[in-house]
Amino acid sequence: MSLIDLIELAGGETNIRRILAPKGEVIVAVHNDELVRRLPESITAQTVLGELQLSTARGEVTDEELQTVGESIAQHQREQAEPYLQPTESHYRPQWHISPPQGLVNDPNGFIYHKGEYHLFYQWYPYACEHKDKHWVHLKSQDLINWHHQSIALTPSDWFDSHGVFSGHAVSQDDGLWLFYTGNVRIGEQRDRQTTQCMAFAADGLNFKKHGPVIRELPPGVTEHIRDPKLVFANDKWFMLLGAQTTDLQGRLAVYHSEDLVHWTYDRLYGDELAPFGYMWECPDWFKLANEQFIVFGPQGIEDSNPNHTIGHQNRIFRMSLDQDDALHLIEGWQLDAGFDFYAPQSMEAADGRRLMIGWMGLPDEVNQPSCDHGWIHQLTTLRELYWQDGKVKQRPAKELAELRGDKVNITVNNKAIDLGTKSVELHLNLAWGSELQLMQNSDYHVSLVADAEKGVLRFDRHQTEIREGDVIRELPLESDTIALTILADNSSLEIFINDGEKVMTGRVFTPQDATNIRLVSGEPTPMSYYPLKAARAPYPSV
Ligand code: FRU
Repeated sequence: MSLIDLIELAGGETNIRRILAPKGEVIVAVHNDELVRRLPESITAQTVLGELQLSTARGEVTDEELQTVGESIAQHQREQAEPYLQPTESHYRPQWHISPPQGLVNDPNGFIYHKGEYHLFYQWYPYACEHKDKHWVHLKSQDLINWHHQSIALTPSDWFDSHGVFSGHAVSQDDGLWLFYTGNVRIGEQRDRQTTQCMAFAADGLNFKKHGPVIRELPPGVTEHIRDPKLVFANDKWFMLLGAQTTDLQGRLAVYHSEDLVHWTYDRLYGDELAPFGYMWECPDWFKLANEQFIVFGPQGIEDSNPNHTIGHQNRIFRMSLDQDDALHLIEGWQLDAGFDFYAPQSMEAADGRRLMIGWMGLPDEVNQPSCDHGWIHQLTTLRELYWQDGKVKQRPAKELAELRGDKVNITVNNKAIDLGTKSVELHLNLAWGSELQLMQNSDYHVSLVADAEKGVLRFDRHQTEIREGDVIRELPLESDTIALTILADNSSLEIFINDGEKVMTGRVFTPQDATNIRLVSGEPTPMSYYPLKAARAPYPSV
């Protein structure tokens, strides 16, 4: 049967919700069962997880024909999602971090400097605070502070990405913008996962045309959990780095290479030297700081000896080397962020050569926080500059953030609450051992930072907040004499840069709108300076 006939029987192009092409078959899922015509025997109709699916033998149907149907589904998906780009009113909404207008945001994607502008995309599910069929939203900026909405760049419309245009990176090449991402497909009641690595291209940097899968098969010994392509040009060729899981459920990095970004050859898996180190590694990144090479990834299933730290989704950075035979060697590694919410970061080289990173301020699996009452969840982190100094990876807020500073205020914090009048501020202080600082405080709620001298840890404690899911305590061992803090607060988040950026702790914190006080509940009165921070341009289409 031709694809055109199948679509007619399914009620016409506008009635097609998804198109799937598992081996030897074509399947279409429909919006409205009542529009489906009388079906011949060559078509099987089946309800899969509430969705009527019609399947038939693939026969002569080509990839190009399938993609034409995908384009029409994409148009419908964009129209459907458009209204969800309007932001809801919410006092939890950050003033200068990127948050979804509605629905759920997770990983930053395709972060790149291209033809004089910064491009950033994010994983988005428009319709609820749920992890479902992901879209890519496209933002652009000239100054790395004010982000302008461009489009819903990619939707889960095709046979190779019907259940999610998953994460990936961008390449600026031949004047165009190339996006590489993982196509996520689920087949049948069992939701069997089918994974391909896909490419989309926009000559104008705006209108992306999907090219389809550039890698269709799994490498030997790897499960369908292989995703999040990162592209790097090194040793005169392109490398593609993927997060992967082996068939014996170990996290690894899979590496491919290519001459032209389109044809890819599999090299091998890396990471044996760390084993055992989690059941899956997600979202790899690869970059240089000074003359050293680094790899970042998100190992899952890592246990921590601190009983308060129960979340297995982590972040790591490793110094590594690339030898002449194109092999990667992991040398030494660290946690990038010791807070609650830092995952799936991506970095980019800015026009002036700085390495800037942005992460997801959220965690996989978590879907219930107070902002869900306002129709949205999660956000992206502040841009951080990463640099290599004295054998350490250090981080500082990107200098552009200073653009948002109001006038500097100097105060002394003591045990009387001081109202800052805002929750969007940059604070600087030295916290002495034995002190406890409460932030975003009112009579019922607060967040605590405790310099616990006995345990030798800085404790970030958010148990006295409106949190609904996730750990409430993070403890960071520190050996320094005092603890120098730069704290970025933005309505429902804190990013704490410690001792000149040697460590960072990031967390979302939900307290009521009037919880704008700061207070030192134990310890000597402490001098502090702060800058109220103004709002950046909201990254939504309406403004
Ligand atoms: C990480 C992640 C990625 C995947 C994406 C899907 O948060 O699980 O591995 O590509 O989210 O939204």
